[in-house]
Amino acid sequence: MSGISQIQHILEHIYQKYKNFDDGEVATYIPELAKANPEHFGICLATVDGRVIHVGDWEQEFTIQSICKPFAFQMALEKFGRDITLKHVGVEPSGEAFNSIELDPKTKRPYNAMINAGAIAISSLIKKDPPEGGVEEFVNKMGLAAGRKLRIDDAVLASESLTGNRNRAIAYLMLNFGIIDSEVDKTLQQYFSQCSLLVNSQDLALMAATLANMGTNPVTREHVFDFTFIKDVLTVMFTCGLYDAAGDWAYRVGRPAKSGVSGGILGVVNRQLGFAVYSPKLDSHGNSARGILACKDLANELGLHAFEFTNVGSNFMESML
Ligand code: DON
Repeated sequence: MSGISQIQHILEHIYQKYKNFDDGEVATYIPELAKANPEHFGICLATVDGRVIHVGDWEQEFTIQSICKPFAFQMALEKFGRDITLKHVGVEPSGEAFNSIELDPKTKRPYNAMINAGAIAISSLIKKDPPEGGVEEFVNKMGLAAGRKLRIDDAVLASESLTGNRNRAIAYLMLNFGIIDSEVDKTLQQYFSQCSLLVNSQDLALMAATLANMGTNPVTREHVFDFTFIKDVLTVMFTCGLYDAAGDWAYRVGRPAKSGVSGGILGVVNRQLGFAVYSPKLDSHGNSARGILACKDLANELGLHAFEFTNVGSNFMESML
């Protein structure tokens, strides 16, 4: 069996194993997200040499939600550099839920760019006036990373704006401490729009593979991200990407990743591949319940954990491809 068909076989095995897994709840706090079909389950893996392997509902679109956060952080670092960006957001895990209304008591910064507070601070930096310009820039950059033109889901955007008072509270708290400027509505328009970007599992896997491939999309060969800052982004994804489940993820999967409340998870194996899973039912941490299980199996079967000592991991992948 060739390397690629061996990986296809592993993906199919994981898909079949969890196909009927039904735990968790679809997110309802943004009413439009409650319409997701809980049966949808897609897995995709993209290698840095441009091979893409997928199973299940990999073509099913969903909104990217919090998986926009590492990419927005990357954009802020590219535009403003480390010194300025890190005046607005820290790099410490919060150990709290994604929507916690809490800032670092000493610095008044949000703990990191993966929680809502940090992502809103980043949106404040990268927004434009009028806000449509900043949104368009983000959408275009994500399209380059995915290798196809992407668009916003207007219904989710409207639903999120209508019900986003907790994020408004977080934003006003940060305005009070001078972390964001007074254009709160424009900042939130940028943030809500980023979250409402429509993607499928293959888009996420290719975005992850673009990070893994030093910023170049492995299929289109387009240079998308400045690799100087990818290590910053991957580090914060590693320690904070799964919120208050980040420790368990680091222990079991051992790779930088980011989840979103619509049920997506994306992971990066530096210089090798990106992987993504979509399944809308969430666990108590707000992460895709079936997605987490599938990623744990994927890491195990392919030996992806960063601290794997046995002769799988990178050696295994290299020999397979
Ligand atoms: O801020 C929100 O509520 C959402 N738009 C994004 C949250 C999210 O995806 C959290 N991830 N698990």
